[in-house]
Amino acid sequence: MCGIVGYIGKQKAAPILIEGLKRLEYRGYDSAGISIIGKNKITTIKSVGKVSSLEDKIGGKSIAGNVGIAHTRWATHGKPSDKNSHPHGDCKGNIFLVHNGIIENYIELKSSLAKKGHKFKSETDSEVIVHLIEEFNKKLDFKNAVLEALKLIKGTYGLAIINKKEPEKIIAARLGSPLVLGIGGDEYVIASDASAVVRHTNQVIYLEDGEVAVIEKDNYEVTDIKDKSKNKKITKLDWSIEEAEKQGFDHFMLKEIFEQPKAIEDATRGRLVVSEGTAKLGGLRDVADKLRKLDRIIIVSCGTSYYAGLVGEYMLEEYAGIPVEVEYASEFRYRKPILDEKTAVLAISQSGETADTLEAIREGNNKGAITLGIVNTVGSTIARETTAGVYNHAGPEIGVASTKAFTSQLSVLILLTLLLGRQRQMSYVMGKRIASEMKKIPKQVEEILSQSKEIKKIAKKYLKYKNILYLGRKYNEPIALEGALKIKEISYIHAEGYPSGEMKHGPIALIDENFPSVFVVPKDSVYEKNISGMQEIKARGGKIIAIATEGDKEIKKHADDVIYIPKTLEMLTPLLSVVPLQLLAYYVGTGLGYDVDKPRNLAKSVTVE
Ligand code: M6R
Repeated sequence: MCGIVGYIGKQKAAPILIEGLKRLEYRGYDSAGISIIGKNKITTIKSVGKVSSLEDKIGGKSIAGNVGIAHTRWATHGKPSDKNSHPHGDCKGNIFLVHNGIIENYIELKSSLAKKGHKFKSETDSEVIVHLIEEFNKKLDFKNAVLEALKLIKGTYGLAIINKKEPEKIIAARLGSPLVLGIGGDEYVIASDASAVVRHTNQVIYLEDGEVAVIEKDNYEVTDIKDKSKNKKITKLDWSIEEAEKQGFDHFMLKEIFEQPKAIEDATRGRLVVSEGTAKLGGLRDVADKLRKLDRIIIVSCGTSYYAGLVGEYMLEEYAGIPVEVEYASEFRYRKPILDEKTAVLAISQSGETADTLEAIREGNNKGAITLGIVNTVGSTIARETTAGVYNHAGPEIGVASTKAFTSQLSVLILLTLLLGRQRQMSYVMGKRIASEMKKIPKQVEEILSQSKEIKKIAKKYLKYKNILYLGRKYNEPIALEGALKIKEISYIHAEGYPSGEMKHGPIALIDENFPSVFVVPKDSVYEKNISGMQEIKARGGKIIAIATEGDKEIKKHADDVIYIPKTLEMLTPLLSVVPLQLLAYYVGTGLGYDVDKPRNLAKSVTVE
């Protein structure tokens, strides 16, 4: 949450920073701002709303200067307003900074700085940092002033700071909020993530917690906050700028829904071994022995990634025979989880930066469990802090509503099920069956995508409803939950996801002609039970959209609208049944006129607890 970007080099900083902000906008879009060091002054422009409002405010004005910082905000302390927008400046307008994170002791710092005469302009926690640096900068140089200030701060931060008195420098610091330094030929870009860097260079270093980078026009140095020098490895980014662009689609969300056949291929390429009925996962090789001895797996994740975990629970228990628990990462460390070396704590995270999931992993590491990750973002904090893991390789996901990351997470969970299952009781014949059906999934997703026009027509009929119930059972219960999350995120329609068997225990009371349901009802082992549930809804006048298996004519008797998915193994149906639900949400959201890539109040990666 919150995106920060800084530029130092030979080019004009302002256009590069604006472009970087647009790439980071998915992290927050309550307000945006920019500060550029010019001759003897720092120009700062801020605006409430999206980066486009900031651009309008700049209005084509050319801002001179090759060094600058910028920010796109997801508000935590203080409502979205010009004065609460970053960059924040000190009393004299010498030092400006952008911050991503939360300063927990800002109230006490603020009152002690106020007693020393500092004047605060905003309600934010971030502003205390710049005044603290100003205070130390009275006696110390810029770098030492920053280091001293950081020693007093409690909380999390990703920071980029400029100082008019040392104008050829950006200082960046990280604790709990990600920062990537892009190293170009004669320029540097520091940003919250690589999407703002990749246009300039594919050579990056990932700052670790507790590290500070002093970036000058022709060199950089990384130290810890005690000024001890750090040797940093340069990593090559393995994705390109094209992957992060819309490529003719109206929204990133739609592009990413349509990218799913490729994302599933990419997640399984070279890993799914049909001939042996198993999977090979290089990222888990080092822990192969420990995996063989595992007693149980605890999956920790949030939102859509949590629902992927729920599907994983069904797969791993049924086919690998390992007990699995799925926990909201945000609750995990507030219990007293009982962990040991035969327990794997498996984090699932698209961004690899979700604070709740990261803290759950740290809890796992502290308590001696094996920590594993299924992560999409290469080099992210969760990927680095887990003992071992598997990358999704879905490419950058920009739409705030997660789509392709989900199906690629499911694909990796299937690979994991094959790997662990074949180490245990799964037969070669079963492994081969699953692997060969899995091979067909990308094509089958394409078949569903080819029905997008019909799905759009169905969506149109449901724009008028204020509430929708999503129902499913067994493997498709988590898909009902995910379908409901998708529609509420981007269309603001109240939706409840429920296990269909639970409906009769309460939610059925809601049903009438104004409360439609989406029933995920493929031809599987719980099909008949689901049909009974559908009849109970019909008997009460509720409308139904059914997600059913192709060739199932019977279903039409029980539903008002039917979207068909191809036939596959029961355990693989979630990979297919979720796709129409994503499209349905997309067409309802856009049909109601919303910007589905930037739903209100949300941010792509939630880096605060
Ligand atoms: O990056 P992560 O997978 O850790 O993110 C977890 C959730 O914040 C995320 O899935 C969120 O629920 C999405 N907006 C869902 O579309």
